[in-house]
Amino acid sequence: MRSHYCTDLNETNVGQDVVLTGWANNHRDHGGIIFIDLRDKTGLIQLTCDPEDGAQAHKVADGVRDEYVLIAKGKVRLRGEGLTNPKLKTGAIEIIVTELIIENKSAPVPFVIGDPNVGEETRLKYRYLELRDPAVYETFRLRSKAAIAARNILDENGFLEVETPILTKSTPEGARDYLVPSRVHNGEFYALPQSPQLFKQLLMVGGFDRYFQIAKCFRDEDLRADRQPEFTQIDVEMSFCDQEDVIVVAEKLLTAMFKACNINVQAPFNRITYNNAMEWYGSDKPDLRYDLKMVDVIDIFERCDNEIFTNIAKKPHINRIKALKVPGADLVFSKREMKSFEDFVRQFGAHGLGYFQMKEDGLKGPLIKFFSEDDIALLVERLGMEVGDVVFFGAGDKKTVWDYMGRLRIFIAEHEKMNILDRDAFEFVWVVDFPMFEVEDGRVKALHHPFTQPKDTDKDDVEEIESIAYDIVLNGTELGGGSIRIHKEAVQNEVFKLLGIEEEEAQEKFGFLLDALKFGAPPHGGFALGFDRMMMLITKKSSIRDVIAFPKTQKASCILTKAPSAVDNTQLRDLHIRLREQVKA
Ligand code: AMO
Repeated sequence: MRSHYCTDLNETNVGQDVVLTGWANNHRDHGGIIFIDLRDKTGLIQLTCDPEDGAQAHKVADGVRDEYVLIAKGKVRLRGEGLTNPKLKTGAIEIIVTELIIENKSAPVPFVIGDPNVGEETRLKYRYLELRDPAVYETFRLRSKAAIAARNILDENGFLEVETPILTKSTPEGARDYLVPSRVHNGEFYALPQSPQLFKQLLMVGGFDRYFQIAKCFRDEDLRADRQPEFTQIDVEMSFCDQEDVIVVAEKLLTAMFKACNINVQAPFNRITYNNAMEWYGSDKPDLRYDLKMVDVIDIFERCDNEIFTNIAKKPHINRIKALKVPGADLVFSKREMKSFEDFVRQFGAHGLGYFQMKEDGLKGPLIKFFSEDDIALLVERLGMEVGDVVFFGAGDKKTVWDYMGRLRIFIAEHEKMNILDRDAFEFVWVVDFPMFEVEDGRVKALHHPFTQPKDTDKDDVEEIESIAYDIVLNGTELGGGSIRIHKEAVQNEVFKLLGIEEEEAQEKFGFLLDALKFGAPPHGGFALGFDRMMMLITKKSSIRDVIAFPKTQKASCILTKAPSAVDNTQLRDLHIRLREQVKA
C-alpha cells in the first residue's frame, strides 16, 4: 500500500512520487491550504493539501479530523524558505498531496497522542492510543531488538530454546502463586509458574546441556515500580559448568542485548561479595554509579564517653557503628536538610543520626565532646575528612544499620544538590557468595531458592552457610540472579531438612525433582534476567509498566480489559467453586 514510512523521506527524495499511510496527528487550515501532520510508527511528515495541486485531495482534507486513518499520494517538495520545522526529522520537506483517501474515521480521542500530562488510568484504558506515539513505539522496537539479540547470542553459544508449561505445580520463589482451578480434578489447582526453575533443571537431567527461554513468570506479590504480577525472564540453564562459566554466558548475553539497544557495555563486570556489599553499601544491590562507601568505626566508638555507643560497640558480632562520609555536604546542605536526613532514617528504624562537620578549625558536632583528641584525629584520618565534608553515623543492630544507612546513601546521592549521580552511566556489578539461608522470625528461609548449591553445610550457625549464588545488579536494581544447583539427592534432602521441610512434605511438593536427582543428574547451574527491568533501565523509564505493551496497574488489574472480573455461575460450577461471599460485579 505504502511506498515509504513517513520519516524515511528527506531532501534527497524531493521530486519523487510517494504513497504514505498513517494517522492524522493534527490538521490546520491556513488561508485555504490545509496542512495535516501524518503520523506512522516512525514519526511525522507534513501533508500539504492545496486546491491548486489537487482539488480532490483538498476537498477530502477538509473533512479530516484527529486520528483519521489516511492514505496520501503526492510528491515530495522542499519547504519554502522560513517554513522549515527543525523539531521534525522531516521538517525540511512536505508532501504535495494529489490524492487523499480517508481509510477510516476516528471518534474524538480522549487525549492527544504523545501528550505527557495524561493520567495513567486514562492512558492504560486506551493503551492502544498511547502505543501510537512513535516515542512509545521506539521503546518496544528496542525491546524487540534486545529479545532477538538474546536469541541469536544464545543460539550461537549452543543454547536450545525450549518452552515449559504454564499450567503447572507451584515452585517456591518466595511469592504467592496464581492458581488455576481444574475442571477435571475436583478441588485441585494448577499454579502458574513463578519461574521455570524446576523444569529447566529437569531439562539438564534430560541431557539438553544448554537451555534458554524468554519465559513469562507470574507472582502474586505486592507491586512496586519495578514489579509486575506477570513479567518476562530470559531464563538460562547449563550443565557441567561452574559459576565462572555461567557468569561468562550472562555477560555475553547482557553485552549483546545492550549493544542491540545501541549501548556499549564492557565485560567483565566488577564483582563484590555479598558481605562487602552489605558492609560498604548496606544493600545486596548497591548502586555503584557513585562512591559513598560506609566505613566501620565501632572500635573508635567503643572508647567514647557515651554509654549508648559503648554498649552497642560491646557486641560487634551483632551490632555495627558505621560512618558515611559525604564530601562537600557541609557546603550544600542547610541545617534543615541535615535534620531531614535524620527524619528519613527514622522511618527505617534508626533512633537518630549523629553527624560531624569538617570546618576550617577541625571536626565539629554535638557528639564531639564524647571523644578524645586522639580518636578525633583517628576519625579524620580514617575517613579522609576535608573541609566541607560531613560524616553521618549509624549505630545499632547490624541489619537495621545496614538498611537505613544504605538507604541514606541513596537518598543523599539522588538529592538534586549533590550532583554526583551520572544518570547516563550503566554500572554493572556481580554480587557473589550469598548466604544460603536467612533467619526471619525464627524461621529458616532460602535466600535464593532451595535448589541452590550450598558451599558447605557443616556450620554451627545456618546463617554462616554460603551458597554458590550470584546476582547481577545494574545501577542499584537487581537485574537477575542465579546459582549452581544441587544435583545430588542427599544434599537436596539435607537442605530441605535445614529449611524445616519434612520428608513427607518434600516428597509431596518436590518428589519429581528428588526422583530426577536419583537418575544421574549432571552438575548444572544458570540464571534468569528480568527482561522488563532491563528494558526499563535501558530506556530510562521510571516504571516497568512503560516497557510492557499491556501492563497491569499497581493493584494488579488490567484497566483496558477490566481483568480480573467476575465470572458466571456456570463457569464456577464447572470448576467446583462456590464463592464464600457473593461478590458484586
Ligand atoms: P529471581 O526470583 O531472582 O530468580 O528472578 C530473576 C529476576 O526476575 C526479575 N523479577 C521481576 N521482574 C518484574 N516483576 C517481578 N515481580 C519480578 N520478580 C523477579 C528480577 C529478578 O532478578 N529461578 C530463579 C533464577 C535462577 O536461579 O536461575 C529466579 O526466578 O529482575
